[in-house]
Amino acid sequence: APHTATCSAPVNIAVVKYWGKRDVPLILPTNDSLSVTLDQDHLRSLTSAAADQAWPAGDRLWLNGVEESIGESGRLRTCIDELRRERRALEEKDSSLPKLSTFPLRICSENNFPTAAGLASSASGFAALVSSVSTLFELSSSVSVSELSRIARQGSGSACRSLFGGFVAWQGGEAADGSDSLAVEVAPREHWPELQALICVVSDAKKGTPSTAGMQRSVATSPLLAARIANVVPQRMDTMRKAIAARDFESFADATMQDSNNFHACCLDTSPPIFYMNDVSRAIVALVEELNRASRAAGSGAVAAYTYDAGPNAVLYAPKQNVPLILQLVRHYFPNADFDDTFNLLGAGANAS
Ligand code: DP6
Repeated sequence: APHTATCSAPVNIAVVKYWGKRDVPLILPTNDSLSVTLDQDHLRSLTSAAADQAWPAGDRLWLNGVEESIGESGRLRTCIDELRRERRALEEKDSSLPKLSTFPLRICSENNFPTAAGLASSASGFAALVSSVSTLFELSSSVSVSELSRIARQGSGSACRSLFGGFVAWQGGEAADGSDSLAVEVAPREHWPELQALICVVSDAKKGTPSTAGMQRSVATSPLLAARIANVVPQRMDTMRKAIAARDFESFADATMQDSNNFHACCLDTSPPIFYMNDVSRAIVALVEELNRASRAAGSGAVAAYTYDAGPNAVLYAPKQNVPLILQLVRHYFPNADFDDTFNLLGAGANAS
């Protein structure tokens, strides 16, 4: 019988964005980033990996039921090769272990959300792939979660952050070989249970410019991105870490919204310019800004923080007590936006299931 393992991994949404690579093949970023991992009820990838000596040679992979070619090179191949190397190291130390590193692999992955919505499917997808194959290979005692994140990073940069739950930093690192470019936990999800996330699906159409291509164009052409990397992100990482440590929603909200706006400004500064937000996205920004202004003027704090990735959908972070009000207002002003199904509590990282 084949050896098998199944793992799931959630989506993460950055509050300090990753945008730009200093090394494209290794997926090494131009800056540190920080994200919040969502729960797995609505947005997660579930991946099963199996290995059997008796199967015909060659690895195979299915995504949402459709076979994808793994190829001789590329992101999938790199992740699988790295995991095999770790397994081989184990087998060399303990000759009683089955030689799984030499067996063909079969991997099946599915998302519980439409891939077309552009909701960080590559992040949860590569995180689930790395967790399931590492579980199959029984690497947990020899390879740490941060080391696994370094492997997932080579599948998709943002995937490295989905190995952990709660609040997660991707340390960009300095080494040319990427050995110090990995994810670390900033705080577990239990640290700030009142903080919740809400995803407002403005459009489930596939996004225009894929993030991989978009960020390279920004690196090549945007002076604003160069300034963001040098002068904006280091201070913001610091502000964000302090806000999370202190559970300071005022400061967390300001830094989150400023970073989203700075990222989208860099997209606009790219040539040719990249537009990810649309009119509805901008109207949601205006609504949240007005809510926060009015609430602060009345002596209460910020109500919510918005952030947008490489697409028009809004992710709102808010203290739990504000969620009913936000839902009511967004539904009132944006009757076509769909977020009934995508109300998310903060969640745990990748795990075996
Ligand atoms: C805007 O991780 O999808 O969501 O590394 O090329 O696969 P690749 O890019 P990807 O980029 C994510 C960009 C972002 C910001 C973020 O998640 O930090």
